[in-house]
Amino acid sequence: MSEQKDTVGVIGVGWVGLVTAACFAELGHPVIARDILQEKVDALSKGDVAIHEPGLDDLIRRNAERLTFTTDMDELLGGARLLFVCVDTPPTYSGDADLSRVRAVVQELPEDSDHVLIMKSTVPAGTGESIRRDMPGLSYVSCPEFLKEGTAVKDFMNPDRVVVGADAGDEGAAAAVESLYRPLGGEILRTDVASAEMIKLASNAFLATKISFINEIANVCEEVGADVGQVAKGMGLDERIGTSFLRAGIGYGGSCFPKDVSALKMLAGNTGYHFQLLTAVIEVNELQKRRVVGKLEKHLGSLIGKRVALLGLAFKPDTDDMREASSLVLAARLQGEGAEVVAYDPVASERAAELLGSVEMATSATEALEGADAAVLVTEWGEFAELDWAAAAGRMNRALIVDGRNFLDPKALTEAGFEYEGIGQTVSSPRPAAAS
Ligand code: UDX
Repeated sequence: MSEQKDTVGVIGVGWVGLVTAACFAELGHPVIARDILQEKVDALSKGDVAIHEPGLDDLIRRNAERLTFTTDMDELLGGARLLFVCVDTPPTYSGDADLSRVRAVVQELPEDSDHVLIMKSTVPAGTGESIRRDMPGLSYVSCPEFLKEGTAVKDFMNPDRVVVGADAGDEGAAAAVESLYRPLGGEILRTDVASAEMIKLASNAFLATKISFINEIANVCEEVGADVGQVAKGMGLDERIGTSFLRAGIGYGGSCFPKDVSALKMLAGNTGYHFQLLTAVIEVNELQKRRVVGKLEKHLGSLIGKRVALLGLAFKPDTDDMREASSLVLAARLQGEGAEVVAYDPVASERAAELLGSVEMATSATEALEGADAAVLVTEWGEFAELDWAAAAGRMNRALIVDGRNFLDPKALTEAGFEYEGIGQTVSSPRPAAAS
């Protein structure tokens, strides 16, 4: 008879909370997941998963008997001692992290709570200390998440590292959290709360810095005739640099990098320190989203009345998430230059249509390309690599593509009749038809 595993509590059943709940259930733990939205709890209790995350809905259906979704805080507090806080911490107008939902959770805890609060929400350094000050008897552990959208279940089950931050007096609580993750076999880093909080922000800020760096290198490559793909490869072979997150493109987006970079910059600013590097990382990223317009004007001249097709809208493939997606800025810039914008995304079109009201939404890539004067690949969905580009060239008004993710094969596209322009790569044009 296998021993009964600790019941795990999850507060806030958004993307992070749902992945956390489903994965701990998969590891054999009874899980009670609490959210304030009754309709979300009802839907999840029926196995209906609203977010697009590969493998998650199967995991929830497979572990339904171990998963309890509720709005009732008392049911949660009565059933679980280990409580993962996974509520949203969106940016405020100042760029600071909005901690109101975190504070609301703390206020719901009984004064003499013997629960362990395990912070998975991304919070500025110092948050844990202030919560412990308000609730001196509460056991508090910082355990940031490093999941990527589109691969979250795999990332949870195969962590590079699990960070467990606890201060004096909470060693027992930290050990309990560590034992939850030990079956996954990743490196477990035990540290203090403030350092754990900083590890999360600094990790995301560093990855964003890597992306802005390679994007600037790409821009220089265009001036000197070098190929950023080759440059990134050569750089990445140095293990001190590493090949990952050196893909040049039209800027990073999503619910994490933009928010965490600005939250860290604000956190530093609030202490009186001007984090210059992050100021540049943010500025480079915003400019990178707009550089596509200049590339199109180079080929088309004025964009007034030109029909431009955007292929992909989500901030990255395998998600329907539009938060801080580069497509939002690009579409608006193109319209600002007088272009007519048509767009297609395999899964995010519905969400995008709410945000991009005046952009025409096509139901397929082929439909989007019909009669277009140019195409821009914005999100590197797999299906775009499979497209019949020769046929597409015949249907476009002009077979011109700006590959915003260097995702397509320039040679194949030019052979299909396209003028191809990537990011940080030399422009290639179709060979003129042999004089008959
Ligand atoms: C990120 C972090 O990777 C993850 O550890 C953290 O927990 C949450 O934030 P996510 O936002 O899902 O995950 O996306 P990620 O795959 O990191 O991509 C972020 C953005 O960077 C995307 O817009 C992507 O297109 C862009 N990107 C990524 C690049 O432009 N170049 C790269 O080389 C990698």
